[in-house]
Amino acid sequence: MAGLEPNPYDEVLYPGCPFSQTHPDRLATLATLFGMKPAAVENCRVLELGCGDGGNLIPMAFGLPGSEFVGIDLAARPIRSGQALVEALGLKNITLRPLDIMQISSDLGRFDYIIAHGLYSWVPPAVQDKILAICKANLAPQGVAYVSYNTYPGGHLRNLVREMMLFHVRDLTEPEQRIQQARALIKFLAESQAEPDPYRAFLKKELERITQYREAALYHDDLAEINSPVYFYRFIEQATRHQLQYLAEAHLFEIQMGIFPPHVAEELNQLTDNMVVKEQYMDFLKCRRFRQTLLCHQDIDAETRANSRFLCSLTSPLDFSPARH
Ligand SMILES: C[S@@+](CC[C@H](N)C(=O)[O-])C[C@H]1O[C@@H](n2cnc3c(N)ncnc32)[C@H](O)[C@@H]1O
Repeated sequence: MAGLEPNPYDEVLYPGCPFSQTHPDRLATLATLFGMKPAAVENCRVLELGCGDGGNLIPMAFGLPGSEFVGIDLAARPIRSGQALVEALGLKNITLRPLDIMQISSDLGRFDYIIAHGLYSWVPPAVQDKILAICKANLAPQGVAYVSYNTYPGGHLRNLVREMMLFHVRDLTEPEQRIQQARALIKFLAESQAEPDPYRAFLKKELERITQYREAALYHDDLAEINSPVYFYRFIEQATRHQLQYLAEAHLFEIQMGIFPPHVAEELNQLTDNMVVKEQYMDFLKCRRFRQTLLCHQDIDAETRANSRFLCSLTSPLDFSPARH
């Protein structure tokens, strides 16, 4: 596509798929629980940054014909494949565009829901900042932005394995060889540990993860040139600089304390009533690696914060499953 450099996502395709936690229905439900008045999902505008081949966005457009969807990606090849599917399905409510996020301006308009999944941790700091700038400038007043990212402290564990793999494949350029050799190294390390110590247990767990991982995902996620986790509190500091505030996690159970013994919630509640600080401690407790954070405009009223404090203080997860008899 004219004007765009070839990039690794053109070379090795990253097959997209639907992520239910990014669906406007999920985002609207959470926003409502937290006191907002989000746009009706049947008649809304959705923007996805780094949409790849549209594997997430096209099913949404298919299921919500009254809403409008725009997907942006730097890689031309996946965008072309998504456009072919849109054409074949005859969808008129979705546009997939080959475009650098850095080129997005307010001309693109306002969106009720903005999604950036699997993007933030794999781009340079200037692009990370631009993602949050778009979440501010292009978000409707009651809009919700979803941004996922790798986080610390769990990111240190993932980095431990990533750095060893990167060293091992440093002279290899062929994607298939890089993938195969990265897996071979972790297998060798895991199977060479004589002592049943925590390092052996850790390597075995990582081997399991890396073996189950799709090849394209291992290539683009763990073996990528950039893969920068961030502490949650740092991410929120950056969002705050863009006049955005923390709303919730896309998986509600992640912000509740029901998975811990009751004394844990009590001690955390005594330590702080600042939700962001509490969430940071929860990442320490869980050794968390990945977050799927929802943001909204900073001027969303205090009722939202009050509701979120209430929901987070619940010590057992809310259960939305149908009643069993
Ligand atoms: C790890 S993939 C994630 C794709 C998809 N969101 C998913 O989770 O399956 C990251 C995507 O971001 C795109 N990307 C990276 N930098 C970009 C930029 N500056 N502008 C637009 N897209 C970008 C890549 O081309 C790639 O398709």
